Amino acid sequence: MPVITLPPVDPSSARSAAEPAAPLPCQPVPDSPDESWLDELADSLARNGWVDLDGRQQMGAGLLAALQKEVVALDRKDAMKRAGIGRGADHTQDRSVRRDRIAWLQGDSAPQQALFAFFDMIREGLNRRLFLGLKRFECHYATYQPGDFYRRHVDSFRGRASRVVSLVLYLNDDWQAGEGGALRVYNPESECEVLANVLPEIGRMAVFMSEEVPHEVMPATRTRYSLACWFRQDEVPLPL
Ligand code: OGA
Ligand code: MN
Repeated sequence: MPVITLPPVDPSSARSAAEPAAPLPCQPVPDSPDESWLDELADSLARNGWVDLDGRQQMGAGLLAALQKEVVALDRKDAMKRAGIGRGADHTQDRSVRRDRIAWLQGDSAPQQALFAFFDMIREGLNRRLFLGLKRFECHYATYQPGDFYRRHVDSFRGRASRVVSLVLYLNDDWQAGEGGALRVYNPESECEVLANVLPEIGRMAVFMSEEVPHEVMPATRTRYSLACWFRQDEVPLPL
């Protein structure tokens, strides 16, 4: 029988849980290099009201592929519902404004749980840096069939403290500029000025202040998959 030798106990690691190590005074807290992308995200949001970034490194190719598989499957089995505009009694399906189909995420699969953990990290990261008091988020998949669009709009009415930060994550492989389908971002100060056309390539994210930044989904020549998330300041959903 092999003899198992235990390593000697390091007395410094043998503290009880009730006795946490006191931090040394004046010792700088090292910046975690992994969080620098959150610093950049918060900085750009504060400075410009919007930002787009490549989230493949933070999310990982496996999670992105799993989310893409989910939305493609939902679309194939006709589980996506025609999207409307407005909430509660104001809810209408105006096909001249938007033509996408959506499915709300409930966090009921492993990829969705991993995504929710990622969004929670962003929520807390933005709260810590910008004091936004974001309490929760809601998100849906969206599919735009060829020719579908979402006309210029903002995601939230001013002063409602409901949707505060919008995040759109794209889930399409090998998207070419000639295929259309860009997210067109407008200057909040001069609404006809286009600030950017963001291509819906897998892993790309557009993040913007929901009340401020007008944006539009341009029609595409192929099916376009995305996931939209809204970080909110209110605690509980309004009754529908
Ligand atoms: C939205 C939206 C943008 C996109 O759902 O409100 O603006 O690129 N989506 O899918
Ligand atoms: Mn929008």
